[in-house]
Amino acid sequence: MLADLAQINGAQLPRLARLAAGHDAAHTIPQDLEPSPVFPRAAVSKDIVERGRRLISGGKVAAFTVAGGQGTRLGYDGPKGCFRISPVRGKPLFQLFAESILATRRKFNADVPWYIMTSPANDAATRAFFDANGCFGLPREDVLFFQQGVMPAFDAAGKILLDQPHRVALSPDGHGGSLLALATTGMLADMARRGIVHISYFQVDNPLVYCVDPVFIGLHDARGSDMSSKTLPKADDLERVGNFAMTGGRVVVIEYSDLPEHLARARNPDGSRRFNAANIAIHVLSRAFVERLTADRASFALPWHMANKKVPFVDPDTRRRVEPEKPNAVKLESFVFDALPLAENPVVMETSRDEEFSPVKNATGVDSVESARRDMSHRAARWLSAAGFSIPMKAAEDPDGLFEVSPLVALEAEDLIARRMTVFPIARGESVYLE
Ligand code: UD1
Repeated sequence: MLADLAQINGAQLPRLARLAAGHDAAHTIPQDLEPSPVFPRAAVSKDIVERGRRLISGGKVAAFTVAGGQGTRLGYDGPKGCFRISPVRGKPLFQLFAESILATRRKFNADVPWYIMTSPANDAATRAFFDANGCFGLPREDVLFFQQGVMPAFDAAGKILLDQPHRVALSPDGHGGSLLALATTGMLADMARRGIVHISYFQVDNPLVYCVDPVFIGLHDARGSDMSSKTLPKADDLERVGNFAMTGGRVVVIEYSDLPEHLARARNPDGSRRFNAANIAIHVLSRAFVERLTADRASFALPWHMANKKVPFVDPDTRRRVEPEKPNAVKLESFVFDALPLAENPVVMETSRDEEFSPVKNATGVDSVESARRDMSHRAARWLSAAGFSIPMKAAEDPDGLFEVSPLVALEAEDLIARRMTVFPIARGESVYLE
């Protein structure tokens, strides 16, 4: 019980309890909400890309994955990063990222440390997975794990729930907790020691992510930005993604669940969608920015978002553990994108969905295992075609077969083209893996 309590930020507790009990307003949608300007990837100049490359080859960029989530929607019992996703080889998400980082190290002849945030529920399993797989070829000392913070669950009156008579009901405090956790676990100090300037942040669920993208890093750096984000046009008005917007001259993300429907459906005079910039949860943060935010550890907190959840608890009267049938508890989480309004010169860079975003959230349907495998295969087919291969097609944009290009071969189409490979014939329905 004492160990559990020691993990809770006591100074903030009274405010959190009031929030959970609904006495303080958590969030209101600003009245002056405007769409956020976006910078197209294709408009990034050669000089800026070169700048990004120099930062990577100078060992000034770290990769950072938030992998503390519980993956409940996927129905997978284990750390989500261990889920086998690639279309031909069935590589796990973590392996794809590891190989992508290894390829970056080789391409730029540089160290690229990789920080991975876990949570108490999946930390041991995540570390064991990397150990069992020899860190997928990465130097052991350059893969750093640390645990995120936790937050107690509250009942409707703002009282902390107990999971066992001697244990507090704790759950991860959201990916916004990553900033403080980087500081408290010594990871920021580790970055400083290594001379890291920028942190390339991504979620564990997107197999198409470009883990360390010179274009994005160059733009972030050239603009003197504290925190930059990637975006792309929304697939439909109600797509379950955050929305980039502006309020009071600051960039913010409004979650799909918080954006009123009339705004989600609003149109510009030319008929285009007014709030069209999706948050794909890929950011670059300057180390100095995270240091500044977390300098005063006791008082730093991003805004708290509340969710009503079912949390088993010990009834204080009967002392029995109850498995509730409907939501009985308030969980509080903070989101990393709430650091954006605190950032100077943020850039929101628009990229392409086909190339960089296909999250694995659900087992089937939208944003699922199926759709992510399909999108990985389609992207590989496009890259192969750009490199001169003749790809059999079922229909336009629907290649006949399964395709996979190892990140160790190419991080983008240009890498594959530059290899000047001898093309070989590909039969209909074939599975092609390029290693
Ligand atoms: C998230 C974003 C949404 C964005 C979408 C893109 C939030 C609240 N929303 O939605 O704006 O459009 O991704 O795919 O993030 N995680 C932790 N610790 C936690 C909670 C989560 O590390 O305590 C990690 C997860 O492991 C995962 C990521 O954060 O890598 C996303 O979490 P999730 O709750 O699944 O976010 P989404 O609702 O999918």
